[in-house]
Amino acid sequence: YKRITTKSLTEMKANGEKISMLTAYDYSMAKIVDAAGVDVILVGDSASNVMAGHETTLPITLDQMIYHASSVVRAIHRSLVVVDMPFGSYQSDPKEALRSAIRIMKESGGHSVKLEGGSEVKESIKRILNAGIPVMGHLGLTPQSIYKFGTYTVRAKEEEEAEKLMKDAKFLEKLGCFAIVIEKVPADLAEKVAKSVSIPIIGIGAGGGVDGQVLVIHDMLGMNNEFSPRFLRRYMNLYEEMTTAIGHYVTDVKSSDFPNEKEQY
Ligand code: KIV
Ligand code: NA
Repeated sequence: YKRITTKSLTEMKANGEKISMLTAYDYSMAKIVDAAGVDVILVGDSASNVMAGHETTLPITLDQMIYHASSVVRAIHRSLVVVDMPFGSYQSDPKEALRSAIRIMKESGGHSVKLEGGSEVKESIKRILNAGIPVMGHLGLTPQSIYKFGTYTVRAKEEEEAEKLMKDAKFLEKLGCFAIVIEKVPADLAEKVAKSVSIPIIGIGAGGGVDGQVLVIHDMLGMNNEFSPRFLRRYMNLYEEMTTAIGHYVTDVKSSDFPNEKEQY
């Protein structure tokens, strides 16, 4: 395979080729996602929700993110690996932000980091970029700020927040970020932003006018049947299929159907 780099993504945008991105948090899943041809694998701090069962992304630690990321990196041959910087690892001061990013790069082998916010995190982004670490931005609904927003509803519906989003996107481009995730904002706005910058805009709940799409893998595989926002397309109903399969296993064990003569030594 030819490895995907941050440069490949810029080229994809320039050529009008859409970028595919999915999350993964462990070796076995990442192996499948990479083999299926996904361009970018995000080791998202959504691991806090889907892997650890927390209500928000806030509790996950840097050590835990590094554990997930190193498992993913061991599985991949082609995809670009982006690792989320967890809440608390980059907000307090730029030096700590750089130390956190360096730990992610050294200890996990990931290829880049992602962090939430625009002008607020300018100094941190600058330092990380200066150390040669590629940075992906994240604007719109930024789940690490959920207690400020109060809800997970669509962001930037009002003029003021829409203008700030546009400004922040241009700002992140100027700083040198290689791409930006834009989460849950009106499709018109996301499209306008994508047309205003030369770096790729990867959307989630941001419509089809952007340069690529990202989803949480557990959501798109239907492993979680309690979460069904409008933006989510389910490609499988794995929750149903897995409960059925596991139910058959239980029945087979209880009835002594499993193991049979060929399934033993
Ligand atoms: O953590 C995550 O999964 C993310 C995506 C939803 C963009 O940040
Ligand atoms: Na995230």
